Amino acid sequence: MSEQNSGNSLRLSRRGLLQLGTAGILGKSLLSEPGPPTGATDVPRPHAPQYRFRVGASALNPDGPSVVAGIAIDGQYPGPEIRLREGSMLRVEVENTLPNEPTSIHWHGLLLPAAMDGVPDVSNFPIGPKRVFVYEYPLLQSGTYWYHSHWRLQEQIGMAGPFVIEARDEPLRVDHDVVVFLGDWLHRSPYAALQTLKENPKQLAAGARMANMKPDLADIQYDAFLLNGRASGNPWTYKARPGERIRLRIVNAAASTYFRLRLDGHPLTITHADGLMVEPVHVDHLQLGMAETYDAVVTLSASGSYTLHAVAIDGSGQAIGILHTPDATPKPNLEMPPFGGRALSYSDLRASVPTTLPQGPMRPFTLTLQGNMAKYLWTINGQAYPKADPLLISRGDRVQIELRNETAMWHPMHLHGHFFRVLQGAKERAPLKHTVSVAPHETVRIEFTADNPGRWFFHCHNLYHLDAGMARVFEYVL
Ligand code: C2O
Ligand code: CU
Repeated sequence: MSEQNSGNSLRLSRRGLLQLGTAGILGKSLLSEPGPPTGATDVPRPHAPQYRFRVGASALNPDGPSVVAGIAIDGQYPGPEIRLREGSMLRVEVENTLPNEPTSIHWHGLLLPAAMDGVPDVSNFPIGPKRVFVYEYPLLQSGTYWYHSHWRLQEQIGMAGPFVIEARDEPLRVDHDVVVFLGDWLHRSPYAALQTLKENPKQLAAGARMANMKPDLADIQYDAFLLNGRASGNPWTYKARPGERIRLRIVNAAASTYFRLRLDGHPLTITHADGLMVEPVHVDHLQLGMAETYDAVVTLSASGSYTLHAVAIDGSGQAIGILHTPDATPKPNLEMPPFGGRALSYSDLRASVPTTLPQGPMRPFTLTLQGNMAKYLWTINGQAYPKADPLLISRGDRVQIELRNETAMWHPMHLHGHFFRVLQGAKERAPLKHTVSVAPHETVRIEFTADNPGRWFFHCHNLYHLDAGMARVFEYVL
């Protein structure tokens, strides 16, 4: 009691001290007295979070009657849309209400301090059961991003949502600005699906396909594909007048599905790749690897209803959305669309400003992507994470990576905490991305400057490949 009193008195004003003295004389309990009014406003308080996420077990049924035991933020999939302005401070309080499972949130594509990156055992501790963690960092960029759990397979069962940072000076003029969030959905547990992959003869088939050099397009058979959390039976719809410009912020948040996307009867103008502006490209359709984002501007040409198709590249299904004019009722076109005409390719992407890196010591890496189908192990230079060496670099290095895909599958390779240049055609305007798709049996070159010290995950964004080892850590200190 006396220790506590003297502790308190240290922070009191002179008037407070006098009051304290009086209280002492009167022999009242100090603890039951209201505190002195002065000084209270001097106490610094943390700013309130803009978002509070409650992570918990949720019964989810985005595609109808099949209810799945998911894990979601505030019980919803996709998670709440974060929309903030460039230059502001992000503050998200995450409460893990799960009784016995950790969680985490990774802010995909964000340039943030490593300690806010949300990768258990790489940059952060996981958020334990019944624990709260506040993510807080300044937003140094603008664009279309997303967030997701980085704990095991939680992303597959509901832990993902869109994250939009509005530019301080937005050069793009549009009438509508809306997120298109793509996902894949299972009625069974993804852990069981992964176990089946480890034990099951699909491997033999995949191995045979690998020998024939035919691409192997999917590991997992999905029960549904989702657009803004809805399956094609009950699609997302959006209204705009003819002639209005609609900015679609497209995020491939699927766990292991590549999509091809097109809008019936309309070309798409690609304005941003992975959040950052590119010189506009007009295409009829585009392919998105997992974790890639593209912004596309469309203008409805005339009164009517137009279906936006996101077709899984193995052709096993599609998610749809419907853009329609106010006078037209939304009419889903459930036919699988053809993909003729012009497709977006990386060689079309030119950054809106030169992206050449500052001079720095060259640090070349050759990283070979391989798969051991008999064991369902996915490796980089023969090692499966976490039994893998860190990639040691130094601050200021110009890190050049040659990614050699020796497998029959696509691998969307993602680097945390940095953008890299994709070295394919555009020279000084090479686009900056955080995720690069490496086609079966192809080689891609990327480079980045090591300017954000820490331990940074570099991995395949196929959740099953990641869980089965296709990851490394780039590591450097101040
Ligand atoms: Cu979306 Cu480790 O990433
Ligand atoms: Cu992969």
